[in-house]
Amino acid sequence: MNYHVLTLFPEMILQGLNTSIIGRAIEKGILSLEAVNIRDYAGNRYGKVDDYPYGGGAGMVMQAEPVYAAVKDLEERMSHKPRVIYLTPQGRVFRQEMAVDFAKEEDLVFLCGHYEGIDERVLEEVVTDYVSIGDYVLTGGELPAMVMIDAISRMVPGVLSNGESGTIESFHDNLLEYPQYSRPEVWRDKAVPPVLLSGHHANVEKWRREESIKRTLERRPDLLEDANLTEKEKKFLTS
Ligand code: ADE
Repeated sequence: MNYHVLTLFPEMILQGLNTSIIGRAIEKGILSLEAVNIRDYAGNRYGKVDDYPYGGGAGMVMQAEPVYAAVKDLEERMSHKPRVIYLTPQGRVFRQEMAVDFAKEEDLVFLCGHYEGIDERVLEEVVTDYVSIGDYVLTGGELPAMVMIDAISRMVPGVLSNGESGTIESFHDNLLEYPQYSRPEVWRDKAVPPVLLSGHHANVEKWRREESIKRTLERRPDLLEDANLTEKEKKFLTS
């Protein structure tokens, strides 16, 4: 997977993603990460890429041409037309299924806006996916791009060391993850659930599945509508 992030703050992307699991995957060559400075395509000596909005109003708008030139330059270096994701609170809200879907791409381009946004005309020309990371407004698209890159990367084969952990955690079957425990067996009078010490694998699995369902019902009942439940589990929920 090759990520290309178009931004006015490339250092934010490079610093933010070069550590831990993502950093290791980049080092191993499973992922690559390029941050393109839109200012390099300003077409003027001052690196100016924004201007006042037509019709008036507060703030500045990122101009169409530098963004267009940056995207076209990227496309020319690739043998195919990549998906171009524009980070905006006006997009489809990012979910785990989308991370799984994006992880199948060879290249992904992220376009990060700032100020009052980007000239609509270039968005119409280059953007394939409008994505929001939640119903709140941030100061720019860099943090959302990093959030998406982190979530997508976990779904790229070879990025996580334990082959399974990518699918077993929260949102597998649209359920939250079961609780986890480690040593000591008793901590401040709180004991680990005995089934986890039993060594009985099937019972452990059954307990975890039940805890997942209970936890989802308690904390995120909205997820249950699309959860992958057996008939028996559905009955348990409605009883
Ligand atoms: N840019 C500003 N706020 C955003 C959000 N919530 N999601 C994606 N991009 C954004």
